[in-house]
Amino acid sequence: MRSVNDARKWIREAEAITVLTGAGISAESGIPTFRGAGGLWKQFRPEDLATPEAFERGPKLVWEWYDWRRTLIAAAQPNAGHLALAALEKTKPRFTLVTQNVDGLHERAGSRNVVKLHGDLWTLRCTVCGREKREERAPLPELPPHCGCGALMRPGVVWFGEMLPRAAWEQAEQATRAADVFLVVGTSAVVYPAAGLVPLAKTCGARVIECNMEETPFSAELDRAFRGAAGELLPQLIAS
Ligand code: APR
Repeated sequence: MRSVNDARKWIREAEAITVLTGAGISAESGIPTFRGAGGLWKQFRPEDLATPEAFERGPKLVWEWYDWRRTLIAAAQPNAGHLALAALEKTKPRFTLVTQNVDGLHERAGSRNVVKLHGDLWTLRCTVCGREKREERAPLPELPPHCGCGALMRPGVVWFGEMLPRAAWEQAEQATRAADVFLVVGTSAVVYPAAGLVPLAKTCGARVIECNMEETPFSAELDRAFRGAAGELLPQLIAS
């Protein structure tokens, strides 16, 4: 148990904590992950659904997939992993939650300083005038949705091949460089640039602690790599 107690001590004593989460933290809320067993990319091909070309080719098909995910997530609840991170944030002077997830469950769990690297499923953006609007109805009343200007609206998420929002990336990088402890939770750490935050944290001197069901490319070089469910591991790690 030394290993968990060390990690608990580092977390307890840290002034600045940065967390990177991926789809695995929402798995216990019933939201399928992308890779690994039962992953979405087993049933669907990313290039058919999560690229600008796919949207260009068939906006209705892409929207049907996102509408399915929005409807699933709307019925889901944040789990103990989300709640543990929201509780930890309240105890730290500097805390940044960087997420690759677009489901909004961190905010629903009460997290405040959330940096969304891959956008947000609840935001729609006009493909012509660029107007954004928050739309929480699921299923959507109209598929595909249209803007007041008459043009198609797209999901406010980052697709493969697209740039991450600059402000979000800069905030994530800065918080990673400044972290005393960097938690990486529920991500396969294979999609860049997000995955690059893990080695960056290590290089910048943070204690890096992983909570994941499976091994990741960085597990062997981290200060602690705990195998298991985020909903079980995180409450243990943050318990005072
Ligand atoms: N607790 C902790 N980890 C879990 C759990 C759980 N309950 N369930 C699954 N995992 C782990 C899996 O072992 C896997 O390593 O979560 C990880 C999820 O990895 P991915 O499905 O690849 O999701 P993610 O890393 O977030 O993907 C990154 O890829 O498809 C794109 O844009 C999409 O943001 C996504 C990005």
